Amino acid sequence: MSELVVVSNRGPATFAVGADGALVARHAAGGLAPSLVHALAGTNALWIATAMGDADRRAAREGVAAALAGGTELRLVELAPEVQRAAYRVVANGTLWFAYHGLFDRVRQPVFDRAWYEAWDGYREYNRTLAGEVARCADEGATVVVNDYHLALVGSYLAAERPDLRTVHFHHTPFCDAHELRVLPDAVAVELVGGLAAFGACGFHTERWAGHFRSCAASVGVEAPEVFASALGTDADDLRAVASSPGCAARRSDLLERLDGRALLFRSDRVEPSKNILRGFLAFEELLDTVPRFRGSVTFVARAYPSREEMPEYRAYREDVERLVERVNERFATADHVPIVLEVADDFEASVAALCSYDVLLVNPVRDGMNLVAKEGPVANRHAGVLALSREAGAFAELGTHALAVQPFDVSGTAAALGRALEMPVAERRERAVALAAVAGSRPPARWFAEVVRAARTSRLRGGDTSAAARR
Ligand code: G6P
Repeated sequence: MSELVVVSNRGPATFAVGADGALVARHAAGGLAPSLVHALAGTNALWIATAMGDADRRAAREGVAAALAGGTELRLVELAPEVQRAAYRVVANGTLWFAYHGLFDRVRQPVFDRAWYEAWDGYREYNRTLAGEVARCADEGATVVVNDYHLALVGSYLAAERPDLRTVHFHHTPFCDAHELRVLPDAVAVELVGGLAAFGACGFHTERWAGHFRSCAASVGVEAPEVFASALGTDADDLRAVASSPGCAARRSDLLERLDGRALLFRSDRVEPSKNILRGFLAFEELLDTVPRFRGSVTFVARAYPSREEMPEYRAYREDVERLVERVNERFATADHVPIVLEVADDFEASVAALCSYDVLLVNPVRDGMNLVAKEGPVANRHAGVLALSREAGAFAELGTHALAVQPFDVSGTAAALGRALEMPVAERRERAVALAAVAGSRPPARWFAEVVRAARTSRLRGGDTSAAARR
C-alpha cells in the first residue's frame, strides 16, 4: 500500500530476462520518465505503468516490482494486447495526440467508424484496469498523480471506487481548444472532458493549455475541477554533471573535430510529426539557397530518436525526413563538407555534447506541451548559443523574450531567423544566453512535482461522475 501513487502509460524501467532466466529491470529511455524519476527521489512513491514486452508481462504476472533510484517502486500491469493496441495506438496516439497537437489532415482524418468506437471501448477498459490497480494499492486518503492523455478516464473510475483519494491529472502535451475539440464525436468529447473533470485537479505546463481545457469544459457543459499551470524545467545540476562526464567530453571533441571550425546548427527530437523536422530542413535549404555565404560554413546536426514506429504515420514521416536530408545534401554537399548530418540513434551523451557546443539550436514544433530540449540547450550550452524557438512550444511562454521566435509553418521566416541567429553579434548572443539559462534552470523537476502534489492535496474530493450527461 502506498501514500503516493504515480501512474503513466510507459514506465521508467522495462524488464529483460537475464542469462540465468531471472528478470532484470533496466532503465527505459525517452518520454517523461527521466524527469519524473528525478522528481520522485525520496518520496517513496509507487509508480504504476503498463507492461510493454514479454519480460514486462512476466514481471506483471509474477508480481515482480522494479526498485528505482530514490526509493520509488515500479509495478507493471498487464493488459490484453488488443486492449493495449486500441488504447495506445488508435485512441491515445492515433486520435488524442493528433487532436491536441492540431495535426489532423482533416480532408481524410479522423474517421470515427465502428472500428474506432470498439477501440474507444478498449480505451475505457485500459483506463478502468489501471484505475483498479490504483484502487488496490493506494492507502486511505493517498495522493494519486496520473500522467497524460492515455489515462483521461482514470479519475471517473477512481471517484466512483475510491472517493477518499486525492487525485490530480497532468498533461505533458498541449490541450486542444474548444473549436478543435469538436472534431471528436459529441459523446466522446463529453466523456473525455468529464473524465478529466472527475480528478480533483488538472494540470498543464502553461496557462495557454490550461485555458484551452477550461474552454473545452465550458463548451461541453462539464464543471471544471481546479485547473492549474505548472511548468516543468530541467535539472541544471544533473545536466551539467552529464556535460562534464568523460563520455560527453570525448563526444564533444569528436564533434568539434568534425565541425572543423564551422558553425553548428543543432536540433534534437523524437522523429515525430509534431516536431516539424521537415520544415526545419526546408528552412535550412532556403537559407543555403538564398544566402550563399552559409554554404560550407554551417553544419546542421540533427539527432533524431526513433518513435512510435508501429504507426504508419510515423514511419512515413521518418522516410520523408530521410529523403529530404538526402536531397539537400545532394544539392549542397562538397568534397569536404556535408551540410546536414542526421543521426538516428539513442545516445544521450552525444546529444548533451551537441547541446554544449551549438551556435544555434532550432526547436520549431508545430505545437508542444513544453519541449524540454529548449530548456536543456541553454543550460548545457558553453558557446553563448542562440535559441530559435517556435512560439507554439509551451516553453515559449518562459523563454520567448530571450529566444528568436519562429512561426512553425513559415519556412521563409524560419530561414530568416536561422540567418539572423548565425550572424548575431557576440554581445547579444551572450546577453540572451545568460538570460535563457537562468530561466531554463529555474524550475527543476522536484519543484514542479511538489506543485502537482500540492494541487492534488488541496483540491476538493470528487465523488461520482461530474459530467453533464450524468447530471441529466
Ligand atoms: C512525449 C510526450 C509525453 C508522452 C510521451 C509518450 O514524450 O511529451 O507527454 O507521455 O511522448 O511517448 P511514447 O513513446 O510512450 O508513445
